[in-house]
Amino acid sequence: MFDVLEIRKEFPILAKKVNDKPLVYLDNGASSQKPISVIETIKNCYENEYSNVHRGLHFLSNLATEKFEAVREKTRSFLGAAYLEEIIFTSGSTEALNLVSYAWANQNLEYGDEIILSTLEHHANIVPWHFLRSRKNVKLVWIDPDENGQISFEMIEKKISSKTKMVCITHMSNVFGSIIDVKTICQNLKKRGIVTVLDGSQAIVHLEVDVKSIGCDFYTFTGHKLFGPTGTGVLYVNKKRIEEMVPFIGGGEMIKNVSKDDVTFNQSPFLFEAGTPGIAEIIGLGAAIDFVLSFDRKSVLEYEISLSEYARAKLQRLDWLAKHSFHSDNLAIFSFSMEGIAHAHDMATILDANGVAVRSGHHCAQPLMKFIGVPATCRASLALYNTQEEIDMLIESLEKCKKLFG
Ligand code: ALA
Repeated sequence: MFDVLEIRKEFPILAKKVNDKPLVYLDNGASSQKPISVIETIKNCYENEYSNVHRGLHFLSNLATEKFEAVREKTRSFLGAAYLEEIIFTSGSTEALNLVSYAWANQNLEYGDEIILSTLEHHANIVPWHFLRSRKNVKLVWIDPDENGQISFEMIEKKISSKTKMVCITHMSNVFGSIIDVKTICQNLKKRGIVTVLDGSQAIVHLEVDVKSIGCDFYTFTGHKLFGPTGTGVLYVNKKRIEEMVPFIGGGEMIKNVSKDDVTFNQSPFLFEAGTPGIAEIIGLGAAIDFVLSFDRKSVLEYEISLSEYARAKLQRLDWLAKHSFHSDNLAIFSFSMEGIAHAHDMATILDANGVAVRSGHHCAQPLMKFIGVPATCRASLALYNTQEEIDMLIESLEKCKKLFG
């Protein structure tokens, strides 16, 4: 049974006070807190299991390699991928998306080719494509979301031309919490031979993801939003695309032989993991995946849906608050502002004084801010350890804001 109070005990930081108030942590879209199992796993790695990986023949090197590679297998199974070589460890979604841009798109797109992007994307899924545009003179074609924060295949279809080579889209908006039907999108695009890149940074935290059933070419997520360590991320690459990729970063691990005149290469995933990786961090990511899988994910999702409904209903009652794309299907993320009354940063400061942590600003999604016509919003983003009492605290703090700013 899913018991939020029991879960909270696993997160030491949630017992902290902030500004003399109990911490209400509603900034999970930016980064989530870590359970004791993740913290202990990292500590244990450094105390008992640490050495470099894939490089030594001694006991600790073998042990660390075994633990590290076990996380690759765990991640493969977590994502429903078929092959281990499809799972590349990165420092986060940002590196993963840059890797797709350099290692695949740079090789396979030509002058005049088109990439479809949605206005929902955060900068990690925008800037690497701007870079590609500068290098290859490809064209970025944009799709704005509808009023519910949605992008459908039909909306994408209208933008497809004979030049469309890729569609890069988020699985879940980090500003609206809208969940995109990526399966329908990928299945349809696959029939047209268009490559799909999915940013799962937010979705992976809440939804069961099966890359085989979705049918995407690339899927990325970041560990620190999934209760794991910072500096960890995953790029899933469909086996078919691996053969079309060239290495992006050169160094140790990704080579077979190096001479003064030549280099021969290792295979995926090592080909794309140059240098010593975040060993303890990736092992910690394994503990985070274990943590997520230790619950019945359907029960967790049901809890998050009911908490989101509670939060949405309470926020809706604040009629002086501008709410951005508050559709009933959106999950766990709420963006709001007090246009013309208070800047989002001022609101966040008042909330912080009450112990409530939210993110304010553009949420690394400036094109989306421009689209909704505000410079910034306040964003409350929920995780499985949040409670209705914490939502009540958010509402109470927002009411203080209103009193203060008028
Ligand atoms: N993309 C992260 C966020 O949504 C940092 O806050």
